[in-house]
Amino acid sequence: MQKLIIKGKRELSGKISISGSKNASLPILAASILANQVYLKNVPLVKDIFTMVDLLNFIGLKTKINKKRNIIKIVNNEKHINTLAPYKLVKTMRAGVLVLGSLLAKYKKAKVSLPGGCAIGTRPVDLHLFALKKLGAKIKIKDGYILAEAKKGLTGAIINFPSISVGATENALIAASKAKGKTVLKNCAIEPEVKDLIIFLKKLGSIINLKGRTITIKESKIKKTQVIHKVIFDRIELGTYMIACILLAKNNIVINKIDPRIIKSEIDILRKIGAQIIKRKSSIIVRRSRKLKKINITTQPYPGFPTDLQAQLTILLTQATGISKIKEEIFENRFMHVPELKRMGAQIKIKDKTAIIKGPIKLTGAEVMATDLRASVSLVLAGLVAENRTIVNRIYHLDRGYEFLEKKLKSCKAEIKRI
Ligand code: EPZ
Repeated sequence: MQKLIIKGKRELSGKISISGSKNASLPILAASILANQVYLKNVPLVKDIFTMVDLLNFIGLKTKINKKRNIIKIVNNEKHINTLAPYKLVKTMRAGVLVLGSLLAKYKKAKVSLPGGCAIGTRPVDLHLFALKKLGAKIKIKDGYILAEAKKGLTGAIINFPSISVGATENALIAASKAKGKTVLKNCAIEPEVKDLIIFLKKLGSIINLKGRTITIKESKIKKTQVIHKVIFDRIELGTYMIACILLAKNNIVINKIDPRIIKSEIDILRKIGAQIIKRKSSIIVRRSRKLKKINITTQPYPGFPTDLQAQLTILLTQATGISKIKEEIFENRFMHVPELKRMGAQIKIKDKTAIIKGPIKLTGAEVMATDLRASVSLVLAGLVAENRTIVNRIYHLDRGYEFLEKKLKSCKAEIKRI
């Protein structure tokens, strides 16, 4: 098993380029089943993307990854299509369930493994199935698989999501884009990654309108078969590196290939804590802030503070003066980084889904273990700011969602190496 060895307290300088978004790429790759040819640009070369590509190959699409240019070409020549998403591929990457909508929409049937839970929670798919049933799919669960079919194709419907779900919104969007008649999705997730999927589906000819949390999809006669699309930048990767810079930048660090408007709420919150952030058109400049102030926040669906940055913000708040609180409202078990941080000296208590963080506390290096993607990157941040040496084990979690993490940090003078 690979590990990362980090020598703490090295000042960072230089610049960081942000990769494309994993969470925008995954639903768009799933929706590529609807097209004949897709050129997807700015795709991050991370494990989850390769798993999704394996799934598309298994289904029968032809894919080609250009690693030098971060481009994936997907061709669906309709031969030998296998409308099955097997357990072995979906168990490691829950977003595999997103092919359900496109297989149903295009081939009127699908057999997709239930994704199962993961470290951060049970991760059910009831909202996905609720929406697809409303569109006319017959769905049953058998031997751990979702068996779905829509013999006469899908028909538009009014669907009011009981709670906000990124994946369910995406699955419903993809399915509805090929349904007869009009679909109205209410109480949708409106993350930038959902909006990027809408742009992709519109390039395929779909007529989609987003207003507030309501998405309307109208039947379209246009059947584009070729799409070129550049995936948006990864706002969670951006937030992660902003926090590293606030903690350790020697002077100004430029973070580029981004759109600061998309992370307005994160920037506002970081500024409230005391971060000095200058916004540019497609980059931001972050410098170290020595006086960090405590804050109380709750994770929320976009445009609120993202749950995917909760663990990373915890590290920042161990260096802020006073008692901060982060309430995790999205997932039921997303504090697994806390016991590891406490072994590095952090003073954090968990009470009623809230992390109560005392600062400023000097962290000391230790051997720690990653448990999920975002928790693992928070351990890297802790290692960067701690005294001495930190070893982060099980970094396969990191490789699922952070492209060239060590390379990007090393280019900013961090002392970090993979063994
Ligand atoms: C997406 O997961 C992201 N993954 C997650 O990022 C992110 O944390 C999450 O949205 C919230 O923003 C991808 O986009 C691939 P949800 P998703 O459906 O779609 C419950 C990362 O680190 N729920 O919005 O699975 C669910 O249990 C990952 O990159 C149901 O109850 O999230 C959770 O408590 C982690 N029934 C809440 O809703 C359902 O049918 C939000 O989940 C679906 C979800």
